[in-house]
Amino acid sequence: MIQVALCPSEIRRISATDLTDTTAVVFDVLRATSSIITGLDSGVESIIPVRTLEEARTLKTRNPGLLLAGERSGLPPKGFDLGNSPEEFQHSKGRTIVMTTTNGTVAIESVKSAQSVLIGALLNIDALANYLFTHCPNNLLLVCAGTVEEFSLEDAIAAGALVARLSGDEGLSDSAMITRSLYEQVGDDFYEWLRHTQNGSQLRKIGKDADIRWCAQFSVVDLVGQLIGGRIVPSAG
Ligand code: MLT
Repeated sequence: MIQVALCPSEIRRISATDLTDTTAVVFDVLRATSSIITGLDSGVESIIPVRTLEEARTLKTRNPGLLLAGERSGLPPKGFDLGNSPEEFQHSKGRTIVMTTTNGTVAIESVKSAQSVLIGALLNIDALANYLFTHCPNNLLLVCAGTVEEFSLEDAIAAGALVARLSGDEGLSDSAMITRSLYEQVGDDFYEWLRHTQNGSQLRKIGKDADIRWCAQFSVVDLVGQLIGGRIVPSAG
């Protein structure tokens, strides 16, 4: 069965259910999961997702070798080493990054009880599909991180792209079917769609159009991130 959690309230509801026989794939295309995939592809050793600024700062105090990354209202929190731009994750080879963002890291944390938690973006759709073909999970939950409390179009498009690669019509929830239809309607120009979303407009307002272009690239990274013991690392396949 493939299900899709389309917004934060649904993520909260599902996170209270038994996920021990479920593989979750978390999408926060603008920008958290795109930045994570970019970082891992650039040799970042691991990324520790946390919910709060306080948790992130406490971890750094205990281990000053960590880098702090993330955003609040799109901007780097005070004292952080990095913001949430994929570009900033490209220059931290060999480092471990503690990351906290408004929706993305919260969504990852929310489904940590799942049998397996994978990190999804438009950047790595084919790699995700190949991974899932190989591992054949009984239940697949696609988690659209959203924007604050709302649905995000870009996350649903990415979820739909994955559904389109994985299935015929059997075993799809209504939410999986609707994301696939959305993806089929979008065509190839993801950037044009992404820049007009709520998140896209907000990012353009703060001068982050280059991030939208980056995150709109389709299947350019052959890597899947997996949450293991509280850290996101490249999956062994
Ligand atoms: C989030 O986690 O809410 C987003 O990644 C926000 C952003 O990139 O500004």
